[in-house]
Amino acid sequence: MESQEIDKLSVLLLHHHPEFLRACCDLINDEWPRSETARMMSLQASCDTLPTSLILTNDKKDILGHCKLTPIPAIPESCFIETVVISKQLRGKKLGSHLMRKAEDYCKNVLNLEKVYLSTKGQENFYAKLGYIICEPVSIYGCKPISFKLEPASHKIENSVPVSSITNGMPPPPPPPMPMTNVNNNYVTMKSNKTYMFKYI
Ligand SMILES: CC(C)(COP(=O)(O)OP(=O)(O)OC[C@H]1O[C@@H](n2cnc3c(N)ncnc32)[C@H](O)[C@@H]1OP(=O)(O)O)[C@@H](O)C(=O)NCCC(=O)NCCS
Repeated sequence: MESQEIDKLSVLLLHHHPEFLRACCDLINDEWPRSETARMMSLQASCDTLPTSLILTNDKKDILGHCKLTPIPAIPESCFIETVVISKQLRGKKLGSHLMRKAEDYCKNVLNLEKVYLSTKGQENFYAKLGYIICEPVSIYGCKPISFKLEPASHKIENSVPVSSITNGMPPPPPPPMPMTNVNNNYVTMKSNKTYMFKYI
């Protein structure tokens, strides 16, 4: 991309430019089809604090790309970048790289964040070229699903009640299914079919 072409690009906060809402909805739904109502509601949630939708536009008021910054409650010095998309006809022209760098600048300089996380299935090379490295899964839903060490069940639980006294001799009901986990070297990690990546900004 030539430098004069970059000069014509802007990265804007979607909630400051609601005139792009409908086109942004179409751009994203063209890649990941979803109910228009649900998509519009998600985009209308964009605000100065997170979540924030950033859009890439040109001087002709076309929308070329989008990405969304979402909070990670368990890692407050970071955020999650998701729904990264460039208009189908314009891919491979470094617009995605430009949008990602601007999003990182915004996270660092405006939101004062230190790290950004993302997950992907298939775009690992694109993000690796931007400096992202693979990490363990993170959750945007509040808990801290970082690995924990499995302790051997060697200790006795004090004041434990014999099972037979609770169940009147009947066998206890089966336990609920285990969460989706991998056990590697005695560590439990969240199981995911996506690759999680992060970058210090
Ligand atoms: C992924 C996406 C945002 C990249 O945007 P883009 O403008 O096409 O990417 P760029 O032109 O900035 O590419 C930068 C580099 O990444 C590489 N790259 C881009 N997409 C790639 C892919 N799918 N696989 C491997 N490498 C890729 C490019 O070859 C380029 O490498 P180079 O610098 O050696 O030439 C865009 O292809 C897209 O919208 N894809 C569909 C939606 C999607 O999958 N989003 C990601 C969700 S995790």
